[in-house]
Parts: sequence; C-alpha cells; structure tokens
Amino acid sequence: MIDKIISEDMDRIKKTIKKDVFSDKKVLITGGAGFIGSWLCDVLIKLGSQVIALDDLSTGRTKNVDHLSKNKAFKFIKSDVCAFENKEKVDLILHMAGHASPDEYQTHPIETLQTSASGTFAMAELARKNDAVLLFASTSEVYGDAEIVPTPETYWGRVNPIGPRSCYDEGKRFAEALLMAYSKQYGLDVRVPRIFNSYGPRLREDGLYGRAMSRFILQALTNQSITVYGDGKQTRSFCYITDTVTALMLLTANPKAKSEVVNIGNTQEVTILDLATKVKEITKSKSQIEFYPMPKDDPKRRCPNIGKLETLVGWKPDVSFEEGLKKTVTWFSK
Ligand SMILES: NC(=O)c1ccc[n+]([C@@H]2O[C@H](COP(=O)([O-])OP(=O)(O)OC[C@H]3O[C@@H](n4cnc5c(N)ncnc54)[C@H](O)[C@@H]3O)[C@@H](O)[C@H]2O)c1
Repeated sequence: MIDKIISEDMDRIKKTIKKDVFSDKKVLITGGAGFIGSWLCDVLIKLGSQVIALDDLSTGRTKNVDHLSKNKAFKFIKSDVCAFENKEKVDLILHMAGHASPDEYQTHPIETLQTSASGTFAMAELARKNDAVLLFASTSEVYGDAEIVPTPETYWGRVNPIGPRSCYDEGKRFAEALLMAYSKQYGLDVRVPRIFNSYGPRLREDGLYGRAMSRFILQALTNQSITVYGDGKQTRSFCYITDTVTALMLLTANPKAKSEVVNIGNTQEVTILDLATKVKEITKSKSQIEFYPMPKDDPKRRCPNIGKLETLVGWKPDVSFEEGLKKTVTWFSK
C-alpha cells in the first residue's frame, strides 16, 4: 500500500504533467528502487507508462517499489547498470543509478566512478540502439565549492579532482562530458538535469547512508544529538521531492530540453544550523546540537540559479522549505 502523504503528493505531480506524453511509453528507470527513482516509477505508472525499474539494490530498497509488483505495467530487474543488456525496446531512459550520499560514495569510491562512467556509457549505447531519449541525473556537486552563488549552468565549477568527493563530482562530470559527446557525434537526445539537494519521503535515514536532512530528522525523533559539521554556517538549498520529480518529468517531456544541461532546485538558501534548529523545533525534540569538524572540501554555499529551467519548461518550485520539512518529518515519524 502506498503511503497517504506520497499518494497525495503523486496527485499533485500528476496535475502538472500532460498524460499523453507518457501513456503507452516504455520507460527504463535505472536506480528505480532509490529515493528519486521510485517516485518516478510511481508517477509514470500513474500516467500510463510501462516501467522497467533497474537497480542493484546497493542503496535502494525493494520496499520503495513493492506496492507496484502486482501491476502488469511494472517490472523490477535486479542488476548492475554497468552490466545490463536490455532486449526490450524502450522509448525513454531515466538514468538515476548512482551513489548519492557523501558517506556512501566515500566508502565505495570505485563503484561510484564505475556507475557514472561505465553505467552511463551502457545507457548511452542503449539509448542510441533504441533511438530513445536519455535523461541523466547529474548534480550540483559538479560545481564543487562554487564561487558564483546562485550558480548558473554556465559556471564551470571548482572541484578538487583528487579529493574525497572527487569520485562523485568527477564521475558525474565525466558522464556529462560523455553524453555531450554522444549528442554531438550521434545526435543522441540527451537531457542533463543538475539536481540540487532533494528531500522528502523515502530519503534513506539510516546511519552510514543518512544525508544531513534525513540524519537530523532521525536524530531529533530519537532524541539523539544532532550532528552538525563545522559551525553550521555552510548553506544548502533543499528542494521537496514533488518539485524535483515535476521538473524531471517536464524536462523529459519537452523537446526543447534536448542536449540541455539544466539546474533543478529550490532557491531558498538555508544554513545547516538553521536546518538543525528547524528540525528540532518541528519534531519538538530534546536533542542537543553538537558540532563536529568540517569534512574536507565540503562546499560552503549551494544555491541554484533556475532561470534556465523556468524559461525552458515554465517550472518554479511550489513547495516551501517549511511545508516540505513538515511533510518529511511526518513521514519519518510514521
Ligand atoms: N537526492 C538528491 O538530492 C540528489 C542530488 C543530486 C543528484 N542526485 C542524483 O540523482 C540520482 C538518484 O539519487 P537518489 O537521491 O534517489 O539516491 P538513491 O541512493 O536513493 O538512489 C540511487 C539508486 O541507484 C542504485 N544504484 C547505485 N549504483 C547502481 C548500479 N551500478 N547499478 C544499478 N543500480 C545502482 C541504488 O541502489 C539506488 O537505489 C543519483 O544518480 C544521484 O547522484 C540526487
């Protein structure tokens, strides 16, 4: 059974997407059992697509898609995207497989690079054979510790190529370069959203995997110390999952997005200390906020310039930080 909050949120997304673009389309979603991938599976099934969710379950969870298992339009395949050979014709590929959490990718740097490099290469070849549209989940991390904030797509980035985050940053930068090469050399229809911190129900909360948002919520709900790195003045811009998924769907649907690299995110910049304080307030937690040394190469500020996305597909975030955070806390507390 699908959760009530998620179900209401799905209806909200559905209202903004034209059904006919996706109905009867066969869509491959890599990383389909993950946070964003599983939301895409749900929305596309609702819009009448046939969905193949591919996931190696390295961080994804079958419980994110179990409720779809009896649906004839849905198929789950457990496989590494790098080794996947698809025999079925697909119309769209939403390539979301990746290692998104800093703790997770720093523990598995080689797999992280392989998924971005070999995995994206495999998906580009599959898209070419099928004449399919390929949307690839890139990241704000390609900008590294940006000097221009809000950051536009024209900014080239300031990334440490051999630092602890490079397996993720440089992996995604390689994948972007690879897809631009496929676009130029073969005319492949690639679309590259750079996603800025997305959050909401199904974001994994547990220990090693937890990202700041989910880690703080879990710590607050269990009255453990909320662990802030540095002085907490570093910023992030948190985009609620319905806004992220709507933007991804609009980019997939709109031919004007062909060969484009586009930021997706919320423009409300929040310090990590503000996030910790807000989470404590909403959960009415007795947790103390504890400060730990800042990890190496952690970006100081992160906020997108979303002018390009607004012009291209007429998208603006719809869910405020307060509203999204309250929904997420409600979902986690269940
Ligand atoms: N959530 C965010 O804020 C955010 C921000 C920027 C970019 N992204 C990108 O969006 C994508 C989805 O992120 P998410 O937040 O849903 O993370 P997630 O970890 O919940 O989902 C990623 C999924 O990919 C799967 N996976 C990883 N390597 C794989 C492989 N080699 N073969 C098959 N499956 C594999 C994992 O098991 C997981 O289910 C990722 O590529 C991530 O880098 C996410």
